[in-house]
Amino acid sequence: MSYFINSTANYHQQDLNSLGWELTVCNSLEPVNSPCRRVLASPYSFGQHLYNFLTGIIPIDDIRTVLEAGGGMGYLMRDFLNLNPRLRAKMIDISPYLLAKQKETLLSFDIDFELADVLAVPSEALSDFDLAILNENLGDLPTLVTEHGNDDNSDQNIAPFLERLEYFNKKYHLPLGLNEYENINIGAMEIVEKLCLTGLKYIYLSEHSCEAVVPEPMKRYVSLQSSGFPEMISLKGHNEFTVKFSYLQKIAEMLNYKTLRGAFADFLLLNLNDKVKTALRLTTPFNDEQEIIRQFVYDLYKYEYLILIKGDEK
Ligand SMILES: C[S@@+](CC[C@H](N)C(=O)[O-])C[C@H]1O[C@@H](n2cnc3c(N)ncnc32)[C@H](O)[C@@H]1O
Repeated sequence: MSYFINSTANYHQQDLNSLGWELTVCNSLEPVNSPCRRVLASPYSFGQHLYNFLTGIIPIDDIRTVLEAGGGMGYLMRDFLNLNPRLRAKMIDISPYLLAKQKETLLSFDIDFELADVLAVPSEALSDFDLAILNENLGDLPTLVTEHGNDDNSDQNIAPFLERLEYFNKKYHLPLGLNEYENINIGAMEIVEKLCLTGLKYIYLSEHSCEAVVPEPMKRYVSLQSSGFPEMISLKGHNEFTVKFSYLQKIAEMLNYKTLRGAFADFLLLNLNDKVKTALRLTTPFNDEQEIIRQFVYDLYKYEYLILIKGDEK
């Protein structure tokens, strides 16, 4: 099989100077008057919703140290620290621009910051943390992209990535590389393995999924196709890929982690009132607010989370 590697590293390190155009679910819930907050059962920010959700799943009061990699504007961590001021936090980000933004957002907290590619950080540096968070960023990590039988005309050295693909196949009994159309989230698999081998007690991950499914009662409002293979998403200055969560889940389970997987809609509960129903039923929205609602509700089902709990933890 012929592949090239999709990397967003140069873009994040050198070109990125705004996150406005890449509206993450976290950012879309940030403004207090955001139309996205108004379609939820409770009008909170993303971090508040996530923290409350995690409270029911892991003993969050026992957690002392938290690491967030790829924290964007820093809003999620701000919410966590406001809700639990005893937490000691560290932010790692590859983007100098966004790390500077995080420092502004988190100015009033005592936090460590590191400019680094999370994949290159030594495992020992991660082992001190109880909880690791990677929200809406796994698709930025390197992906092996198939060339559908064309000659590989890039000058990339992909041999080390192919060795890793073979390693993952053998170690975790995955069928990687068998389908000529299957792109492979090699970076996402690397980070899951690294965090699990490091022995962190709790890990929260999320991203656009290529395996997302809309529950039956919502199918009349949300149309979502999932190919089952990582799909390219073209964004300003870079491409990223949807994530095949079943592979990440299998890696974690084979490393003795319990897993909990679902859609953002599990913790961003929708208030399916008439206004929202109308916006979702339209083929062509009449105004900006309806268009925002449609995209946001689609994202509630397109994004998956994966929570990993080390075998011997509650
Ligand atoms: C799409 S943004 C998500 C930001 C935030 N978590 C949110 O949900 O709004 C991706 C984030 O991951 C960071 N990132 C991308 N690749 C990374 C890497 N290899 N190591 C560390 N951070 C990375 C970006 O700089 C950015 O902060």
